[in-house]
Amino acid sequence: MPRHVAIIMDGNGRWAKARRLPRLAGHKQGAEAVRRTVRAAGEMGLEALTLYAFSSENWRRPATEIADLMGLLRSYIRAELRELDRNNVRLVIIGDYVRLDRDLVAMLEDARRQTAGNDGLTLAIALNYGSQDEMVRVVRAIAEEARAGRLDPAAIDCEAIEARLDTAVLPPLDLLIRTSGEQRLSNFLLWQAAYAELLFVDTLWPDFDGAALASAIESFAGRMRRYGGL
Ligand code: IPE
Ligand code: IPE
Ligand code: MG
Repeated sequence: MPRHVAIIMDGNGRWAKARRLPRLAGHKQGAEAVRRTVRAAGEMGLEALTLYAFSSENWRRPATEIADLMGLLRSYIRAELRELDRNNVRLVIIGDYVRLDRDLVAMLEDARRQTAGNDGLTLAIALNYGSQDEMVRVVRAIAEEARAGRLDPAAIDCEAIEARLDTAVLPPLDLLIRTSGEQRLSNFLLWQAAYAELLFVDTLWPDFDGAALASAIESFAGRMRRYGGL
């Protein structure tokens, strides 16, 4: 059983296109898939689930689509917070989320505070997240500490970097899934994926569910992880 699973939730637009529906319809069904998958992850006893919801590059999309995605995020938090809390889920946000709309930032921070004491599934939502941006922020923080004389450059090691990543509060990443058949990481968890198992599935994100998660975990269970050893 993996401790930490991350998902690049891709394929909402193609799901809608195949049905001659507007892209928003695909994102709405994508939000349903998030509900199902989070519920299933909690029931399975998974320790952490990280979902890539909005990348630092997704700002390149048309303003109307960005507004739709932010609107769906608002309704997701509004509608699900109580159920997440009731199910003992701890919500964490990774990425430079403070750049989102002020009301959304406040809402996310409230949700995080409200669920901070829960010890069931940790649900990390990646918002305005880009792995390169995350590393740039870490390098800046480290450089500031070194300049202030609080950190000896010779003491900088992998642990020092990991402790400053947005994911510092999460267990090591075991399994990284991307839906929709694309085989790339799109700037997601590049450092954290160093020894993660990668799984690319053809399922479009709006069709994903607990059974798809269970089958991904089953395929993970059959992998041999060697970490460079024998
Ligand atoms: C994933 O679906 C949702 C986000 C990136 C926010 P897409 O919107 O990327 O769907 P496709 O790739 O166009 O099918
Ligand atoms: C990755 O999907 C980002 C999220 C799922 C949030 P994209 O659809 O943005 O990735 P590219 O553009 O195909 O690489
Ligand atoms: Mg896509």
